[in-house]
Order: sequence, then C-alpha cells, then structure tokens
Amino acid sequence: MLPPGPAEPPVIQTLRWLTRPVAFLESCRRRYGDTFPVTFLGFASPMVMISDPEAVRALYSEPSHGLPAGRTVALQPMVGDRSVLLLEGREHLARRKLMLPPFHGDRMRAYETIVREAVERDIATWPASGAFPLHPHMQAITLEVIQRAVFGVTDPARRERLGALLGELLDMTSSAALQFRVLMTRRLGGPDPLGPMQRVRARVDEVLFAEIRERRAEDEGAGRTDILSLLVSARFEDGAPMDDEELRDQLMTLLLAGHETTATALAWAFDLLLRHPHVLARLNDELREGGDEYLRAVIDESLRLRPVLPLAGRRLAAELRVGSHVLPAGTDVTPAIWLTHTRPDLYPEPYAFRPERFLGGSPATYAWIPFGGGVRRCLGAAFAEFEMRIVIETVLRHHTLRAAGPDAERVRRRNITFSPRAGTRVVVAA
Ligand code: HEM
Repeated sequence: MLPPGPAEPPVIQTLRWLTRPVAFLESCRRRYGDTFPVTFLGFASPMVMISDPEAVRALYSEPSHGLPAGRTVALQPMVGDRSVLLLEGREHLARRKLMLPPFHGDRMRAYETIVREAVERDIATWPASGAFPLHPHMQAITLEVIQRAVFGVTDPARRERLGALLGELLDMTSSAALQFRVLMTRRLGGPDPLGPMQRVRARVDEVLFAEIRERRAEDEGAGRTDILSLLVSARFEDGAPMDDEELRDQLMTLLLAGHETTATALAWAFDLLLRHPHVLARLNDELREGGDEYLRAVIDESLRLRPVLPLAGRRLAAELRVGSHVLPAGTDVTPAIWLTHTRPDLYPEPYAFRPERFLGGSPATYAWIPFGGGVRRCLGAAFAEFEMRIVIETVLRHHTLRAAGPDAERVRRRNITFSPRAGTRVVVAA
C-alpha cells in the first residue's frame, strides 16, 4: 500500500502543482512527511515523491529502474523516439557511452571563447538605464552557446534563422495552456493539440539535417570541436555510427535539456547574488584575484536553493524500501528535489543563501541532486557548471548590477522548470 498523500481529485492536485508547486510540495511535506504520492491528471497511477537522501540513494543506485510515463509524454514530441532522455536499458547505456566523452569536464575549455563571446555580444544590448529582466538575456546567451558549441552552426545567417525557429518552438513547449490541453486530450480524446508545434519542428529539422549532411561530407580531421562533429564520428560498440534521424533526436535533446535549464539556473544565481551584497562582494574580490573556489560554491548553493528541475523520477523495476514503506515494482517514484535541498537536517537554516556551506568540499551525492543521479544523471552537468562560471564571471567583470526591486523572486513553474516569476529584474548601476 502507498503512503498517505493528498486526497483531492487529480485535477486539483495537478492545478496546485502547475500554479503553486513549492507551496504544494511544502504543504504535503508538513502533512505527510518525507514520502507521499501525488496523482497528476491523465496518469493512471500516482507518482510517489521522496526526499530523504537515503531513499534517493536507494532509488538512483539501482540501474534497472526505468522511466516514469510522465517523462515520455512531456518530451517525446520534441526530442523524438531515440533521444537519450527516453531510451531505456541497454539502448540507453549505449547512447550514454557514446555521448559522455564530448561532455567530459576537461573538454569544456574548448568552449570558453564561445561562451565569452556570447555574453559580450548580449551585454552590449543591455539598457544603460531602467529595469529589465535578465532571464531572457540568459536564454539568448545559452541558446547561442548551444548553437555554436553543440550544433556547431558557424554560418551567422543560418544561426539567426535557426535561433528564431528554436525560440518559437521553445515558447510553444513552455505554454502551460498547451500542456493542460495535452493532458486533457490524453484523457478525453480529440484533435492533437501539438500540430502547430510539429510544423515548426519540421522546419528546424531541415536546418539540422543540412548541418548533419555537411558534417558527414567534411574530412574528419577538419579540426572541429563542436559536439555534433564529435557525435558524427563516434561509433557504437558494433562499429555503427548514429544515423541522421538519431543525430537529430540527440541534438534536440541537448537543446531541450541544456538551454532553458542553464539560462534559468543563471537567472536564479544572479537573483540570489544581487540580494546578498556580502556574498557578491566576496565573489568580486575572489574574481579580481583570479580564483574560482568561491564562484563554484556560489553555483552549488544556488542550484541547491533554487533547483531548476523539480523532479527526476524512475519507474521501479523492483520494490523499493523507503523508511517504513515498501513501494512495489511498477510504482513511479521521484525525488522532490526542492524538498531534499531544504531539509534542515542536511542544511542548517535551509532557506539561507550561504555559499560557505560548500567551501572546502563537494556537496554530498544524494543530498544535492540538481542534476539527478545514477545512470541517468545529467550528461551536461560539467558543461552547465562551466558555462555558468564563465557567464557569471564575464557579466560581473563588465557590469555592476542591482536588483530592480526589494522582493526576492518567487518560483513559477515554467514548462518543466522552476523559474523566477518576474524574470530576475535588474538595473545596470552607473
Ligand atoms: C543547470 C543546468 C542543468 C540542470 C539543472 C540539469 C538537470 C538535469 C536533470 C535533473 C536531469 C535528469 C537526471 C535524472 O533523471 O537522473 C538531466 C538529464 C540530462 N541532461 Fe541536464 N541539466 C542541466 C544542463 C544540461 C546541459 C547544458 C546539457 C547538455 C547540453 C544537459 C543534458 C542532459 C541530458 C542529455 C540528460 C539525459 C541523461 C540521461 O537520461 O541519461 N543538461 N539534466
């Protein structure tokens, strides 16, 4: 039997999740403790939320667990059937093996210039006076970085066209109304609400296939360092390459997994930094001296206090013991990342922004899970952290920013992310 959880009908639980996710999670924690099921509209069975690090460890260290239905429903229309995000078992591991080396931490330095240039180009467009939201600028930066470092698009005209199409596509995926219609259609039937999105996607595909064709025609020693080039020349264990459709799926996966997440993490990091002047001052001092230890701690703490993705679940292949409960095989289970990250037993004064917690050591594996864990842990974690370091450092070197208003940003659920409600409004100080 599942542990107790909210008794409202699924439509109410879904609306609470869609509109006020943090309040919903925290009220469930107050009433039901560490472990409780939530039932979302359109899904036959509940999703059990866990937050105790021991339970998270037990969940993530069993590689045979599969994916919950929700991940496929939310992502398949955008990333395709062979996305590494959606495959399971041996097929999934074969992709991880092929795709991990290009994301290795040491390789990231190849992208430093790309990130710096993207930041400098964007900074030049910031208004010299008046408040503006930083989040869209972070989105522009991370989109350009993905286009250049991952897709390797060098032609500026093609980059502009692709950028506009991707922007349109990503806007469509973040519409709460569209998500609600998709869920309702799953339940009640009716015309596919995703038709318009599929048409934009087809136009994106044309550009990506052209890019892939050109890459295949190039000499392998052309000296390219973008991730698409590395994937074009990579081989599975049986010697076969990825075919064009699969490369397209993985590129869309990297875009979807890596663009909005990193932009949102940056918007949160700036919101927290600008509201904690002593942290900002210490960071500026360190950057002037050429260090980066405190910067890394700022990023770790920011990802703790404002985890961008709230859930990273599994479907149990075997029963899972969580405290006094035994969850049967077949149950969908996810860490509620926000709840793990705000446990006072792990983080004293859990709502305080205090990078010092992470100085002199890495965060504990299953108590700090912004990138999920186990065999599906984020492939781009090193890339994201590297990009965040370069963006924060470059912005702070060029500008003194102030928060535009007195109140800290509140969490809004945007597509699958926890995003700053007002977009991190800032002012460039004279
Ligand atoms: C701060 C930014 C980011 C955050 C918070 C984040 C978070 C996550 C999370 C929570 C997962 C699910 C892990 C799980 O189920 O255990 C994930 C998976 C993934 N992420 Fe990220 N991510 C970020 C940036 C990126 C970037 C920059 C890329 C690549 C360009 C990327 C590529 C992926 C891929 C391919 C997966 C699927 C891994 C698999 O299923 O094997 N992510 N990410």
